[in-house]
Amino acid sequence: MNRECFVTGGSGFIGQHLLTRLTSTGHKAWVLMRDVSNLEKLREQLRQLGGEPDLIHAVQGDLNQQKLGLSKADRQRIASARVVFHVAAQFAWGLSLEQARAVNVKGALQVAQLAASQRSRLLMVGGYMLQNIAHLGSIGIDHQCPETTDWPAVYKRVGGYEASKLEAHFAVIRYMQAQRAAYTIVHPATVCGHSKSGHILAGQPVAELIRNLATGKLTAIPGSARHWLPLVSVDYLVALMVATAFDTAMANQQVLALDEHTPNLQGLLAYMASTVEVQAPRHHLPLGLLRWLLKIPGVATHFGTSSESLSFIRTERFDMAQSKALESRYQLKHPDMRVTLEKTARFVRRALLTEAGLPPQMT
Ligand SMILES: NC(=O)c1ccc[n+]([C@@H]2O[C@H](COP(=O)([O-])OP(=O)(O)OC[C@H]3O[C@@H](n4cnc5c(N)ncnc54)[C@H](OP(=O)(O)O)[C@@H]3O)[C@@H](O)[C@H]2O)c1
Repeated sequence: MNRECFVTGGSGFIGQHLLTRLTSTGHKAWVLMRDVSNLEKLREQLRQLGGEPDLIHAVQGDLNQQKLGLSKADRQRIASARVVFHVAAQFAWGLSLEQARAVNVKGALQVAQLAASQRSRLLMVGGYMLQNIAHLGSIGIDHQCPETTDWPAVYKRVGGYEASKLEAHFAVIRYMQAQRAAYTIVHPATVCGHSKSGHILAGQPVAELIRNLATGKLTAIPGSARHWLPLVSVDYLVALMVATAFDTAMANQQVLALDEHTPNLQGLLAYMASTVEVQAPRHHLPLGLLRWLLKIPGVATHFGTSSESLSFIRTERFDMAQSKALESRYQLKHPDMRVTLEKTARFVRRALLTEAGLPPQMT
């Protein structure tokens, strides 16, 4: 069945793949864009990814503005959307509390208000750390009583990006529950490229990890042999988002999108290193020490990373029972993680060669 949707963050990495999935299955999508003159570029990108570019239309808006800055006419256009996919976020390290809150918390609440007011289902993208209750407790969030949280202290502990995602999550749920409006939240692990094409955008954490390896900036393995960076392929993630968004049984539910077969960090770096033809790092560097080193002025910039990114390297495993039940309901399967990592690393290597003005011989 073809349904209309409204999508924020459609020009971003997950958003492009979501729009590809939606339009290739016949859904029409209104995309919130800060700059609608980029619509043709986005359509071209969708064409290349296998989507149906004519099924997307842009509406001008910004998460930073009151009521998303939507015109009256655009609000009427999007009023028939069955699902509002909230994917947009300011995704960067080093954000101040004010910057991160303005877009990621207040912006998310504006999107929730829009969805509730027009009785659209809200499908929001969270993050897998929200399913790690012990971690939430350790940074001062009681997930049963999140309203008691000292948020400025959390922002200080984990940085603007992660803190704002956590704050937005609880604020949006509280709002949607008060409005008796339906929401579904999908929590992705760190997202790697498409399992077939390896497509990933520059700036994504996985793309940066591969770049750092390829350019000799990553010479040690962060953490111990027990540490891993849980991943999910972008194609599995968007398939799960679309399936849950239209499933009435998923109203007011949350689900984790994470491939538990992601190797430990050492194994992950070894796959990537062999694909980009560099030596894999062999020695471990304790996270505490690395955090300290990255706080030295200039070190984080030199190594192209931030101490904020280290929170996503974990030792815990996650309860995958609900995700597995949904996989069997929707006939979804994680693509082979080794193959996905190899394709992603090849994709990033080709981009690096092109940037350096060399022929991208690797396929
Ligand atoms: N990628 C991951 O590994 C990962 C993992 C877990 C969760 N997530 C979550 O997944 C979501 C999407 O991530 P992504 O990787 O696709 O991010 P991304 O590639 O950085 O894309 C961000 C999107 O948000 C839009 N945006 C930013 N600020 C905006 C504003 N003020 N108003 C309107 N739109 C704005 C951007 O639009 P412009 O084109 O105008 O800049 C872009 O479309 C985020 O909520 C992120 O927290 C991502």
